[in-house]
Parts: sequence; structure tokens; C-alpha cells
Amino acid sequence: VSLLDIETEKAMEQLTPVADAGTKVSLVIHDVFLSSEGTRYIADFLHGTWLGHPLHPVLTDITIGAWAMAGIFDAAGAITDSDELRKVGDHLTTAGTISAIPTAITGLTDYSTFPEPSAAPATLHAMLNTINFGFYIASVRARRRGDHSRGVLYSTIGLGLTAVSAWLGGKLVYTYKVGVDHSDKFEKPERWTTVLDASSLPMRTPKRVEYDGKPVLIYREGAEVYAIGATCSHAGGPLNEGKFSRGCVECPWHQSVFNLENGHVVHGPATHPQPGFEARIESGKVQIRLCKDRECRKGNPEGNEYH
Ligand code: FES
Repeated sequence: VSLLDIETEKAMEQLTPVADAGTKVSLVIHDVFLSSEGTRYIADFLHGTWLGHPLHPVLTDITIGAWAMAGIFDAAGAITDSDELRKVGDHLTTAGTISAIPTAITGLTDYSTFPEPSAAPATLHAMLNTINFGFYIASVRARRRGDHSRGVLYSTIGLGLTAVSAWLGGKLVYTYKVGVDHSDKFEKPERWTTVLDASSLPMRTPKRVEYDGKPVLIYREGAEVYAIGATCSHAGGPLNEGKFSRGCVECPWHQSVFNLENGHVVHGPATHPQPGFEARIESGKVQIRLCKDRECRKGNPEGNEYH
């Protein structure tokens, strides 16, 4: 851990008002996304549920790449006094600024469900990006008016702010673990493993058991017994405390929904699936076995006698 990291974390701890204000804003956005099935699907798309990892960092590469290249062409244009190079700089500035719109929308969507410890840096990241976007809008307008020098001045300030904000974005991922897979990693067991007496597993009552020293959620409904990793892949929420409905569990922290049969993501913000287990009741015992390659087939529940 570098001195800069330690100082940054200390500074973030001082930013409680920023974190509190950011949390309030994020909850409002999150509520809007949760307000209907349609808005949930839009949020899923923007989170990158379909992609298997967050969409926002993919788009930031395009925006930052275009703006950085614009800076290079602006500098080359100034050094060589070339209008052609200046024009390329203008076009790249405009392209980066247009691409910043979907980048910001996906960022705002992820912002609506940031894990609590990242509230201050996530809010600072969002604020800086709003300011640098303003500078780039001003730059594009100045360049379109033919005031290239002023356009370069604004975009240079914007690029400096973008660099700081991108560094904060990196901190969010590598220090605060935003967007990474928080689910537990299990070794593949060869055999069925008993985790619970079936008599201790009432209908529709989630149980958290330990397997390989890590928590697994067990849930029984009708003739089915389900088992998936209990630590939410989004930010580590306890799925055994979630809401259960129609063969799915909704995380209590940011409302990701997972299919209980195989751990697949039904709704984000999670973009990574849960480890899925086959589950069965055999001779009065609940047994589980890790799914191979995440392809779950159900076990052979014979639990009706325990209803
Ligand atoms: S921890 Fe965020 S949805 Fe589960």
C-alpha cells in the first residue's frame, strides 16, 4: 500500500457530508430504476448484466481514448502549425464528448448502487466527471466558433480533470472493489456433500450453511431444493436475508436478483453469476454438489416426506 493510497483513504474518511449527499442521490436514482419491470431492464442493460461485467469501464476507454488522442493532435497541430492536425483534434474532441453521454449514463446507473464504503470516492468521481464534461462542452462550442485556442484551453483543463477522475475510477475498482465479483470461489467437489438435516430445512425458509468454509444459501420450495453461493457477487450482500419469489432470490442490499436453480443473474446491478450447486434430499439429508461449468441440473429431491 503506497503512501498516496493511505493519504487518499484518510482524505475519503473526512468526506462524510459528500458521502451522505451522494448516498441520498444514489438511492433516488435506484428507486427510479426499481419502479417498474421496464426500468429494471433498462438498468440491467446499462449495468452490463448482459455483458457479464460492468459496461461503464468499456465506454470510459472510448471517451478517455478520444480525448487523450485529441490532446495529442492539438499539441501536434500547435507544434507544426498544421490546420489539418488541429481539425483532427477538433473532431476527436467532439467524438469524445458525444461518447461521454452514454459513458456518463452507465456511470450514473452504477452510481445508483455503489457499495457503501465507496460513497465518497464514487461521488467525487461523479462530480469531477460532471465538471470535466462541462469543460469539454465549452471546448466543442469554442472550436465550432473557430476559437481553436480557447477550445484547446478548455479541453486541456478537462483532460487534467479527466486524468484525476480516471485515477479515482481505478481506486473504486482496485481499492473499493466496485464492479468486481464478490462471490466466494468454491473448489469443485467430486461427490455429493451433506450440509444439513432435511428436517432442519422448512419450506420457504432460507438457510445459510458452510461449505468449504464459505457460506451457501439453501432454500426449499415444493419438491425443489436450491443451493447457490450466499455471498452476493455484486458487493457481498447476504442472499440468505433476501426476498424469495418464483425460484429467484433478491439481494437485500441493492436488489440484484439471481436464479436459485443455477445462480444466473436475472436482474442487476450484479453482472457476475452466483456459484450454483445441485441440491437434493437423500436419506433425510440435504446434499449439494457444485455445478460443473455453471451448468446446473437439479438433483433428485425426494423431500416430500419432510413437508
Ligand atoms: S450486494 Fe449489491 S445487490 Fe447484492
